Amino acid sequence: MTAPKPKKLFIKTYGCQMNVYDSERMSGALEAAGYEPTDSPDAADMILLNTCHIREKAAEKVYSELGRLKPLKAANPDLRIGVTGCVAQAEGEEIMRRQPAVDLVVGPQAYHRLPDLEAKVRAGQRALDTEFPQEDKFDHLPPARGPKARRAPTAFLTVQEGCDKFCAFCVVPYTRGAEASRPPARILAEARDLVERGVVEITLLGQNVNAYHGPGEDGDWTLARLIRELAGIDGLQRIRFTTSHPNDMGEDLIAAHGQIAKLMPYLHLPVQSGSDRILKAMNRKHTAAGYLAILDRIRAARPDIALSGDFIVGFPGETEEDFQATLELCEKVRYAQAYSFKYSARPGTPAAGREEVPEEVKSERLHRLQALLSRHQAEFQQAMVGRTLPVLLEKPGRMPGQMVGRSPFLQAVHMQADPALAGRIVAARITAAEPNSLAGALADAGAA
Ligand code: 5AD
Ligand code: SF4
Repeated sequence: MTAPKPKKLFIKTYGCQMNVYDSERMSGALEAAGYEPTDSPDAADMILLNTCHIREKAAEKVYSELGRLKPLKAANPDLRIGVTGCVAQAEGEEIMRRQPAVDLVVGPQAYHRLPDLEAKVRAGQRALDTEFPQEDKFDHLPPARGPKARRAPTAFLTVQEGCDKFCAFCVVPYTRGAEASRPPARILAEARDLVERGVVEITLLGQNVNAYHGPGEDGDWTLARLIRELAGIDGLQRIRFTTSHPNDMGEDLIAAHGQIAKLMPYLHLPVQSGSDRILKAMNRKHTAAGYLAILDRIRAARPDIALSGDFIVGFPGETEEDFQATLELCEKVRYAQAYSFKYSARPGTPAAGREEVPEEVKSERLHRLQALLSRHQAEFQQAMVGRTLPVLLEKPGRMPGQMVGRSPFLQAVHMQADPALAGRIVAARITAAEPNSLAGALADAGAA
């Protein structure tokens, strides 16, 4: 008897790294149901759009993508189309109503039920699951694809989900639910498994990752303790974590940046605004000065740390003076990297009904903020030229003979190198800086 021909699964991932991690786990879950991944939607028997609801534009993209997929379904009646992720959670029934081509809608907390839902869909029914079940979905999902399959040198590992902060603009507490931390033993086992598969850098993920408080046998662990324990795994060389809230930057986590060599000197710590009035209206529960004081302590622990942030411009009620305070904060911090967005009202969030700043004012402020942030980023990039940095080589680049890697500060570094060096940390002399990448050359052995 021959094995049935594997069905093909195409997943398109939108939004944050947590979705990237979830897509891998869903791919693993559906492998058991006879699916193997494909890079081509045309060849697929199942297409999943793993969606993001954080800003209006992100949600709109899902509906236009569904529109584009409709003809594929007309050409192949066996094709099944599913929507997962935060848009699925927030608008599940609406999606089903608006898009009859959609067979399956699954929210982020129900992914472990995918194999059952897939069977239902194969049998010709439509399926919707946006519940928040009590069980930990990750315990019920098989490990990311294949027994001991080799992996890329870097991996994401979700340790915490959900958020209890309720910033007035944000849908996360509604789409991902309350804060929940995975037990440290499970995370350590998953990390060891990743390292056995060739992973040398792990990025710990959570919507509020530094609020991590996973239940250990001797009480709850902090993120700092988890990182300390992970650092003890032989073969794991780099640890990162994202995204953090300023108010959860505990002393032990700050200290860890000066004590744990494997913890990389890069911190993404969103502030959103530099105006105390707006921070209050956003329900951020910290001030601009409080945020800067935290950065001072982090810099005292790790002077070379690269800082990254998120900003929202044009939050309801933001005046030119408030916006100036944001620019001033940026001048003080000098971010190595930053992400800035125009405020967009999200249905169901506290700020959604408030009077909006005119669109052209939002656009103009975004433009000014991004010009300043780009200048600081360019200065940070330029300061690397002439330095020798340890670079983790990840994959071949676009040019022949080229490899792409990452500096400790998360900068992409392009350099000529043997592809066999993938997964190795090499010493690279930085020769040139672009806004979003560096060029380097292999330095003498042992210089890293
Ligand atoms: N409008 C604009 N930006 C938002 N973000 C979150 N919600 C909104 C919104 N309603 C931004 C924040 C957050 C990042 C992930 O997305 O800056 O840190
Ligand atoms: Fe959203 Fe605020 Fe929670 Fe971040 S901390 S996920 S911005 S509610």
